[in-house]
Amino acid sequence: MATAIHSSNMRGVTVEPMRAALGAEVDCGDVKSLDETSFALVKRAFLDNLVLLIRGQTLADADLLAFGRRFGELSAAAPVHIGQKPRALPELAVISNVLENGVAIGGLGDGEAVWHSDSCFNQIPPSASILHSLEIPPAGGDTGFTNMYMALDTLPQALRAAIKGKTIKHDMRYTSGGQLRPGYTGEEDIRSTPGPSHALVRRHPETGCNALYLGRRPHAYINDLPLDESEALLEALWEHAARPEASWHHQWRVGDILIWDNRCAMHRRDAFDPDSRRVMHRTQCKGTPVIEGADSAPRHSRAQPAR
Ligand code: SIN
Repeated sequence: MATAIHSSNMRGVTVEPMRAALGAEVDCGDVKSLDETSFALVKRAFLDNLVLLIRGQTLADADLLAFGRRFGELSAAAPVHIGQKPRALPELAVISNVLENGVAIGGLGDGEAVWHSDSCFNQIPPSASILHSLEIPPAGGDTGFTNMYMALDTLPQALRAAIKGKTIKHDMRYTSGGQLRPGYTGEEDIRSTPGPSHALVRRHPETGCNALYLGRRPHAYINDLPLDESEALLEALWEHAARPEASWHHQWRVGDILIWDNRCAMHRRDAFDPDSRRVMHRTQCKGTPVIEGADSAPRHSRAQPAR
């Protein structure tokens, strides 16, 4: 990928990369009115920068889904948790701490969400997630991202050698919110619990570049290693991937959209005051199979920290 990291302005679409390891702010007017050429510029910026921020959008749910569909076929959102309001639209997830008549209108509550890639416990996790803010708390609830092309590119040689050809098993016992699914006790041996295995080094199907894929730290297991060696290697990989210099954090305003690429970025969310309201609507695009990365893969233009 030869694209340089610089701002651009074409056909009314301005792309301003963040002064950080990933992310760009895109100014393209109302996303509902993007023509095909302008949308192609937005899509290019997404692949180049891993995460896009587009401010000032007023979108009904149908508009958010229509915008999401331009990035790819939408996937059905994960089933709601027990006690949570049923989904109005299968492809729309509500991320919120708000209770209406004692019923949660959405998932994830007000606590911290630790670093993860969305739905890594699926055989084919989503490619893109698109989150639109409708209500935000006065403080907290920022969303952070970390660049997994960079995590791989800057990985010390010894760690790189240690993960060559290895896969991680992503435990299916737990939901995205960390709740145990019915039928499990949490005491099972993670070496034999159900869940898909994904290569630790995966080739992005659209950019062709390699990225490190970790998914979630809790209950992960690197196949074929003794448990203590898997834990030690996972610790070292997570410490490297979650370095502040590889990340960018967003402070929300109402009307913001963030679009992130689950194939090459992880994200996290800060906790916020439970007495305040945060309401976000999210849709996700279906992924496609991602194969193990090849040694000869090109380097992504944002794989190295900016000088
Ligand atoms: C998520 O982890 O998908 C939600 C992020 C957020 O609430 O900001």
